[in-house]
Amino acid sequence: MKQFTSVNDVDNIDQLVQDALALKANPYGSNDLGKNKTLGLVFLNPSLRTRLSTQKAAINLGMTVMVMNMDKEGWALETQDGVVMNGTTVEHIKEAAAVMGQYCDILGLRSFPKLVNRDEDYNEDFFNKFVKYCGVPVVSLESATRHPLQSLADLVTIKETWKGTGKPKVVLAWAPHVKALPQAVPNSFSEWMCKAQDEQWLDFTIVQPEGYELSEDFTPGAQIKYNLEEALEGADYIYVKNWSSFKEYGKVLTYPDGWMMNNEKLKLTNDAKVMHCLPVRRDLELSSEILDGPNSLVIHEAGNRLWAAQAVLKDLLQNLS
Ligand code: CP
Repeated sequence: MKQFTSVNDVDNIDQLVQDALALKANPYGSNDLGKNKTLGLVFLNPSLRTRLSTQKAAINLGMTVMVMNMDKEGWALETQDGVVMNGTTVEHIKEAAAVMGQYCDILGLRSFPKLVNRDEDYNEDFFNKFVKYCGVPVVSLESATRHPLQSLADLVTIKETWKGTGKPKVVLAWAPHVKALPQAVPNSFSEWMCKAQDEQWLDFTIVQPEGYELSEDFTPGAQIKYNLEEALEGADYIYVKNWSSFKEYGKVLTYPDGWMMNNEKLKLTNDAKVMHCLPVRRDLELSSEILDGPNSLVIHEAGNRLWAAQAVLKDLLQNLS
């Protein structure tokens, strides 16, 4: 791989999943691969899992890690070309990204959408400019539209835990929230699950209230449903997640009661394992009884973020020119 910004950067997802599981079994087998190499992690938004798992992954590979909280510690960045910078922005992304590329062999970037202008967010203007100007391989730590390190960890978790016969039924289920959240996690999860479905690993369904449909660009081949109970029938994995509307961009729409996942709804499934990327709002998105119960995979899934990140960094290090 030359970069890791979406599933489209991966030639062979099976190999990457196997690499992640091999690293989980033997974390320090490549601990000299990253010697004298530096990973820079640039955050424009908060993070717990992505920050710590990617740092730990780099350390396991022998890399040096630098973290920049750009939102709190960096200069305010200008992203538009051709503007006279006589306002609040101090440094253009052309210089800022290029300078970071001078200090680092690989850069990670987290840049959430503003959820105001759909075209602006879905064009990934900031992210793409960062990639263009930094001049080194970039790992997405979550962009406006995707969170591929999370999705890889999710796929690793499903592959690792599925002990049934045949293909598991995986359901991405919309859940309530008080805030307008990005579509990056569900877009990305869907994109990876659709790819896995193409490879005959699983069957994939998305269920959401009317008005919360994801962009069709991210859901090729997914079964789309609107009735939660119907979608949950026979499910082996339920991926619970809130997202704001794509159609009425960034809005929290009204929806009927009954979308929070709980033990009552689990009875409709094939004793499904329940996943969530975290952070999760207890008893709003997902019931405490599930989170504290035997069906929850959320901690296991978060643990696999480390092996997903390590597999990606290992591949990038092996392909550094
Ligand atoms: N799931 C996830 O990306 O967590 P953080 O936002 O804490 O990194």
